[in-house]
Amino acid sequence: MKEHGAFQFVLPTRVLFGDNTLEQLGAGLGPAVRKALLVSGRSSMRAQGVTTRILQQLGGRAIETVVFDQVDSNPTDAVVDEAAMICRNAGCDVIIGLGGGSAIDVAKAVSVVAKFGRSCWDFVGRNAVPGDPLALVAVPTTAGTGSEVTPVAVVSKPERRRKDAIVSDHIFPRLAIVDPTLTSALPPELTAATGMDALAHAIEAYTARGSTPLSDMLALEAVRLVGQHLRKAVWQGDDAEARRGMALASMLAGMAIAQAGVGAAHGLGMSIGGFFGSHHGLTVGILLPAVMEHGLGAVPDRYARIAEALGEPVQSVSVRRAASHAPHAVRELMQDIGITATLRQLGVQEESLSDLVADAWDRPDMTNDPRPFTRDEAIAFCRALL
Ligand SMILES: [Fe+2]
Repeated sequence: MKEHGAFQFVLPTRVLFGDNTLEQLGAGLGPAVRKALLVSGRSSMRAQGVTTRILQQLGGRAIETVVFDQVDSNPTDAVVDEAAMICRNAGCDVIIGLGGGSAIDVAKAVSVVAKFGRSCWDFVGRNAVPGDPLALVAVPTTAGTGSEVTPVAVVSKPERRRKDAIVSDHIFPRLAIVDPTLTSALPPELTAATGMDALAHAIEAYTARGSTPLSDMLALEAVRLVGQHLRKAVWQGDDAEARRGMALASMLAGMAIAQAGVGAAHGLGMSIGGFFGSHHGLTVGILLPAVMEHGLGAVPDRYARIAEALGEPVQSVSVRRAASHAPHAVRELMQDIGITATLRQLGVQEESLSDLVADAWDRPDMTNDPRPFTRDEAIAFCRALL
């Protein structure tokens, strides 16, 4: 695709962005919908009354809603299959994913399994979805994954210690409702960890081999927005402007990775999540600055622009020097938002490192990195972060 500057841009999702856009959910479903499956996490949205607001809104339009609120972080293929069975038995004609990346990814996978049958894991990999699934609406309640605008659904298979993804243009949500007010009650540690996921998406998309001129614009703006808004979103969560900035950053970064893909922080981070069940954003966040240092020399001009977008004073220094400011700026940001964990604290064990890297090795993220690791480098890299 990259020969002679050619590239494609795919985004079939209609986006409604802004405070209180949740109120447009019912109208956004269209007149034909009769029964919806609402997929969410266990309790937080219910506690905040968001589930009730949705049930009332859809009820007012004579749309019946079946609630599946059993999604945990790192959701399994078994949870997807269970929800798909409920969806089929109830005869739902639309799926609404409400929550962080886990709930939205489960909703995506359910839309496939409910339509085509078989089991969730049968659709893992690239382009294994045979056609359009059930209609899907994504309503993010965190600012991190950007899953509302990506063709990716990540699921775990615990018995194989494997985390993998369904990747297909068929699973772009039909509608994304990005209402930043839904993130305002997210506690500091989750705001920080999910915000690091957004930053990792933006930086990895911008430096990826698969980057395009359009993904570059989205990614660099997302970097700038995270630098500008994440600290305040973490520590002053009721600041509407900061929450809006992070919701936009997350969405733009999601649009960027939908085109450009991600890099080694995600390739290794997915395997760590599969092995140890660690939080995705926290895991890729811990890996990110060191992955950036590894790749600095491959694309110094790109890292120099990332440093600039993060507010580093790089105007009168060499490109190489400016590039080295980028991981430094990310480390300072992590310090400011209270992320101090190591891989060991996430549960990573030294004796698992070679299996871990072997698991990561077939992921396209590893070769999409601007400076792909060798296996030995990757093992030493993870060991240094324990
Ligand atoms: Fe991610």
